[in-house]
Amino acid sequence: MAYDSQRTLVIQRREPSEAPVRIVPAWASPPDTRVLVMLGESSAEAPAALRLIRFRLEQKRAEGMWTFAVTSARDGEGKSVFATQLALVLSESQRATVLLAEANFHRPTVASLLGFRIPSGQGFSPQLSRKMHGSAEPWAVVALGPSLHVLAESPEEPGYPETLHSPYFTKAIGFLARGYDFVVVDSPSVLGSGEALVVEGAVDAVILVARSQRTKGADIREALKTLGGDTGKCVGVVLWDVTEGQKKSKR
Ligand SMILES: Nc1ncnc2c1ncn2[C@@H]1O[C@H](COP(=O)(O)OP(=O)(O)OP(=O)(O)O)[C@@H](O)[C@H]1O
Ligand SMILES: [Mg+2]
Repeated sequence: MAYDSQRTLVIQRREPSEAPVRIVPAWASPPDTRVLVMLGESSAEAPAALRLIRFRLEQKRAEGMWTFAVTSARDGEGKSVFATQLALVLSESQRATVLLAEANFHRPTVASLLGFRIPSGQGFSPQLSRKMHGSAEPWAVVALGPSLHVLAESPEEPGYPETLHSPYFTKAIGFLARGYDFVVVDSPSVLGSGEALVVEGAVDAVILVARSQRTKGADIREALKTLGGDTGKCVGVVLWDVTEGQKKSKR
């Protein structure tokens, strides 16, 4: 990452309207233990699985894909937890610079999962809204470490979900992607609204998360079809909450 003396991330401009990115230090609040437990103390398989996914995404990076949306068929199936874990594992040991962007403006949880507060007015959708109204201010992202930045929605302040449908959203992801090795976008779910398709249009690839005990097979198939089937951008399905019994029955 290249910083100038004002602690801004310098992304080469292609348009005069593109301002650099302002890096805001994290203002901590207690993190949600789920993320830490999954990465550290839970079954040995979860960290190993995440590292395997990281390896696969590093291969995708070499093929020119580095913006990944995380979605699921329906709400509450583990998108935010997985997107957060993925961003953490990709940036582990400063291996790559990562931006975690929260695009689920209706159900924001990333800040509480990671245990920080969004500075006033610096949620993703309020920043988008101001840009739509002509603001030339730089993007502000919160630095959670030397190689992990977060552009999340504040659960405490009103958001502007309609901004997702403006061209500014796609433009924002495209611009910010030029400053990072990976951008992970926590997306809305696929079925029930067109919002995941907007996010899909803004990224290089999509990962579908499903909860073994809960997500219906028919919903997974429907979601994959909605995302364009074999010719769409979905590069993989992550199944979690798989029990030992289920694993044996699949062998
Ligand atoms: N890997 C995991 N291990 C344990 N619990 C998990 C895991 N992933 C998700 N959960 C649990 O599932 C619930 C839903 O997770 P999460 O908030 O990530 O889903 P989501 O798809 O982002 O939901 P929404 O559609 O509301 O944005 C959470 O309460 C969380 O505790
Ligand atoms: Mg979520």
